[in-house]
Amino acid sequence: MQVAPSILSADFGRLNEEVKAVCDGGCDLVHVDVMDGHFVPNLTIGPVVVKSVAKVSTKPLDIHLMVENNTFFVELFAPLRPKYLSFHLEEEKHPHRLIQKIRDYGISPAIVLNPHSRSEELEYLINDLDMVLLMSVNPGFGGQKFISSVIEKAARLKDLILQKNSSALIEVDGGVNDKNVKRLKDAGVDIVVAGSYIYGSGDYDKAIKSLQV
Ligand code: DX5
Ligand code: ZN
Repeated sequence: MQVAPSILSADFGRLNEEVKAVCDGGCDLVHVDVMDGHFVPNLTIGPVVVKSVAKVSTKPLDIHLMVENNTFFVELFAPLRPKYLSFHLEEEKHPHRLIQKIRDYGISPAIVLNPHSRSEELEYLINDLDMVLLMSVNPGFGGQKFISSVIEKAARLKDLILQKNSSALIEVDGGVNDKNVKRLKDAGVDIVVAGSYIYGSGDYDKAIKSLQV
């Protein structure tokens, strides 16, 4: 299992150190939550701050857009060269077009599904994606309770990926900890995002390792 600590739960007053600490702690990606105050009822960071995160991070960035105007934000964050740029299917009229746009920047495109969205919606997109991010909380805040129906959804998505011969990875975001990571692994999940579990622990290295099952 790959682990992507979400810096949403980091101490923003010491952001550089907090990013360095999870990179040194052996994480695989650094997850960055971009919220616009419209798609979700919270507001986080823009490209100015993420640029300094990119500078200090020794691991690839995984940027999760929770915004209304996806194309605008893709153009804003693509120059920072994240590994993944993911957008919510619920907020995009032309997902296929946006996937191509992200790929044209040389970035891996990913789609995010909210807890209510069906994985079957991806039938005709899955071969164009490098990753699918399944939300296991309602997007907007860290520290929420894990919604366990994501486990069944991940297993169904895995079946679709195998059936379509797609190389897309499955990532799960929200409420992940050492108690549910094994069930996610068994369902076919490749990457977990964890914010409060890692940053709320006294020992980031140990918390990261406990998720690399
Ligand atoms: C929620 C964000 C998550 C969040 C996860 O909208 O997408 O990445 O930081 O935090 P935890 O792990 O605390 O649920
Ligand atoms: Zn996220």
